[in-house]
Amino acid sequence: ERIPGRPKLDIHVVTWNVASAAPPLDLSDLLQLNSLNLDIYVIGLQEVNSGIRSLLSDTAFEDPWSSFLMDVLSPLSFIKISHVRMQGLLLLVFAKYQHLPYIQIVSTKSTPTGLYGFWGNKGGVNICLKLYGYYVSIINCHLPPHMSNNVQRLEHFDRILERQNVEEKNIPNILDHDLILWFGDMNFRIEDFGLLFVRESITRQNYHELWEKDQLIIAKKHDPLLREFQEGPLLFSPTYKFDRYSDNYDTSEKKRKPAWTDRILWRLKRQPQAGPTVSSLPTSYFFLTLRSYCSCMMYNISDHKPVIGTFDLEFIPLMLNPLITMMPEFLWTLENDMLISYSSTPDFLSSSWDWIGLYKVGMRHINDYVSYVWVGDNQISFDDSLNQIYINISDIPETEDEFILCYYSNNLHSVVGISQPFKIPLRFFLKDNILGEPEPQI
Ligand SMILES: *[C@@H]1O[C@H](CO)[C@@H](O)[C@H](O)[C@H]1NC(C)=O
Ligand SMILES: *[C@@H]1O[C@H](CO)[C@@H](O)[C@H](O)[C@H]1NC(C)=O
Repeated sequence: ERIPGRPKLDIHVVTWNVASAAPPLDLSDLLQLNSLNLDIYVIGLQEVNSGIRSLLSDTAFEDPWSSFLMDVLSPLSFIKISHVRMQGLLLLVFAKYQHLPYIQIVSTKSTPTGLYGFWGNKGGVNICLKLYGYYVSIINCHLPPHMSNNVQRLEHFDRILERQNVEEKNIPNILDHDLILWFGDMNFRIEDFGLLFVRESITRQNYHELWEKDQLIIAKKHDPLLREFQEGPLLFSPTYKFDRYSDNYDTSEKKRKPAWTDRILWRLKRQPQAGPTVSSLPTSYFFLTLRSYCSCMMYNISDHKPVIGTFDLEFIPLMLNPLITMMPEFLWTLENDMLISYSSTPDFLSSSWDWIGLYKVGMRHINDYVSYVWVGDNQISFDDSLNQIYINISDIPETEDEFILCYYSNNLHSVVGISQPFKIPLRFFLKDNILGEPEPQI
């Protein structure tokens, strides 16, 4: 049951080692596109093709996977709010555009853990953001492979976490963040049991027989840092290693033992305890609940199956209003200009590099505007409460599409205000005709 005044966000997390494969044609199951109420997608991939050719042809944010995910998600009103890529490691965050003014990107980071280039493709990538005022750190990692490298895996886990500490004066230590979402191809294996026993347990879906020898479950019992992370029960088949284009575990000569290499963990900062003198109404509350943890067996392009975690995030917003509020009414002039009025909160620090973009609803990312204006230019009035600015929209083709305006803060590297969706009045597009054929004078 939803508690009034305590919003709930549905967060969908995917981790998948795609083994250099191109995206499959249909991602509906992976992204649960038929579920209505998703708010945020967090997608971490490993082994995205990072060959020289694809590094040259992919622009920073348009590798084939990013493009394809934007193609699929942007028509559903999800905008890519941040991404970070380090060789084959790719982390993307999408949000319904309505959430944009409440999400600030604090930092993005890459941490290679390769030893002398031997594991050049391993490490972690991180996006740290503020979500309705709460600090959330998201880490996608690829840890060293092979049964025998368990100690290195745990060491890299610590090292990646240590390196994520951000230059954020308020909360420099990642362990003080309200939430850490940590996932990836962690490469943990099932110890001791023989191949036949493991396969037999999987066939009979007696997964619990295997849990006691899972290296991550073992490590979580005594590693002081890992112990603070939670994971859902492994009630799905190990996601590695499959023959490609099949549902069969490795039939090659190596016959690798199946393993739960692909995992999703999270860590909530403990809620401050309400002391006896504190009133019973909490001012902050931030709680993540796992709704489902599963793999998606239908995808067969890789030797790994993707793993999905869906979460409910319940919280009391620390941020009630956007830093910038766009007035719902715009003024349309005869010179193809649109007059935008907006107000800012007293604590908002504007910069002359701030800009307002005009977008078609369904935009892919923040640079996907159809027009924009620097707020330092074209500003026609300014007082403490109200700002006004013209945006020239003469190049916009006649369209019935819906548009929105976004205010981008250069200091915060984030959208801090959006308008309601609106249509451009048709008379706008008729203007040239009207002016070209003036009304006959009487
Ligand atoms: C692999 O997946 C595709 C797409 O879902 C499917 O059409 C195909 O039958 C699968 N191949 C095998 C061998 O399962
Ligand atoms: C808007 O753009 C059009 C075409 O580029 C130009 O003719 C017009 O003068 C511009 N309006 C303003 C106020 O700059």
